[in-house]
Amino acid sequence: MQIFLDTANLDEIRQGVAMGVVDGVTTNPSLVAKEQCKFKDRVLEICDVVQGPVSAEVVATDYEGMLSQGREIAAWHKHVVVKIPLIPAGIAAIRTLSAEGIRTNCTLCFSLNQAWLAAKAGATYISPFVGRLDDIGNNGMALIEEIRAAYDNYGFETKLLAASLRHPEHVRQCLLAGADVGTLPFGVLKSLFSHPLTDKGLKAFLDDWEKVKDLV
Ligand code: G3P
Repeated sequence: MQIFLDTANLDEIRQGVAMGVVDGVTTNPSLVAKEQCKFKDRVLEICDVVQGPVSAEVVATDYEGMLSQGREIAAWHKHVVVKIPLIPAGIAAIRTLSAEGIRTNCTLCFSLNQAWLAAKAGATYISPFVGRLDDIGNNGMALIEEIRAAYDNYGFETKLLAASLRHPEHVRQCLLAGADVGTLPFGVLKSLFSHPLTDKGLKAFLDDWEKVKDLV
């Protein structure tokens, strides 16, 4: 499973890339708004830091508008993947952009039927939002499992990008369910490294080494 960082914060992206495990980045208008930065400038800065796919979202909601924004955004940098919401005009835009060889990430997916439509249209990635389904009392991870099974049943090549992951348990379950990508807030990425027995064990090793180091 690839790791994308779900952030528009450059500092977090630099730190994540330095950890050696980040394969790409996803942004959305809310994440960009948090940074108070110019959208195009920030996408280009992220593309320079990450050697991998960088999702940048259109804000038009009509077919022509999404096409024109999608083509423009895709031309900014070879790493850019155009993020498009899962609405009827968005699915049509994905079909057209995909025929033009432009990579797309179909976002705001909350059901298997929606994920099927995105795959039929040729989306490069589908982004089901796990945490937001949990928020309303549904089982977000069940959706990841359903999409994996259905895509495998029919041989769809659309990559399953699990989004809205809020904690390490979501990540663990995505690994077992066979997601192709997990996009993680930086805090969740950092939490994957942590285990109290690792810290305790390392301290014991270093303390013991102190006792013998001069004998070497
Ligand atoms: O990138 C979209 C998605 O990951 C949003 O997550 O936590 O705002 O539901 P969240």
